[in-house]
Amino acid sequence: MSDKLQIVTIDGPSGVGKSTVSRLLAQRLGYTYLDTGAMYRAVAYACKKTGIDPGDEKGVASILENFNIDLQPPAQPDADVRVYLNSEEITRFLRTPEIGMMASKVSTLPVVRKKLTYLQRQIGQQGKIVAEGRDTGTVVFPNASWKFYLDASPEERARRRTEQLEQKGMKVNQASILQQIIKRDRDDSTRSLAPLKPADDAVIIDSSRMSAEDVVKVMLSHITLSK
Ligand code: C5P
Repeated sequence: MSDKLQIVTIDGPSGVGKSTVSRLLAQRLGYTYLDTGAMYRAVAYACKKTGIDPGDEKGVASILENFNIDLQPPAQPDADVRVYLNSEEITRFLRTPEIGMMASKVSTLPVVRKKLTYLQRQIGQQGKIVAEGRDTGTVVFPNASWKFYLDASPEERARRRTEQLEQKGMKVNQASILQQIIKRDRDDSTRSLAPLKPADDAVIIDSSRMSAEDVVKVMLSHITLSK
């Protein structure tokens, strides 16, 4: 344990409830919540704003030259992490299906993964972090003390994502959300760099029939056991 960092990693596919669980767990442990997906979404947002194609590596690299991102705790306990890009608050633009798909595209670029992994490790340096994403246990924090991989069926994830977006006042179609989830799963898990997969030493939790509270309880039982 001594060479391990006081870091919890929670990876898994989109719409599985990682954000809710990570937020709750971070509150219980008194740790900082690190939403790595928000950082990929911020790159996607910058592409959209500047009209740069998310697959254009040179163009995206130019965005990263002036990319000062600051993540701040949510305004309310159950809200999203607040994201500032070059001092502009962009939180409200990030959670759309369009930005999610663009984020998945930029996340395949080596230049993006290198930069964001570096920034995430800087944030994690002090420990006491709950990091959430696709590769936090495999690539970003391989020495994390506690690693979890959350899974649930695509149908259940589409249902939850639809509910979440509707609560934010967006009008969405569950069937197209399901198609996007299936596409994003495929893209995220088949890419050559940092693909979505459980770390060898991760505890795998299928949350299809569990509430967020139940998932947190299971995680806490592992964390307490190995502390
Ligand atoms: O988790 P979230 O849906 O916000 O992530 C958006 C996209 O960013 C994911 O579909 C994935 O392609 C990418 N991502 C990633 N590595 C992470 C976090 C997110 O590639 N650690």
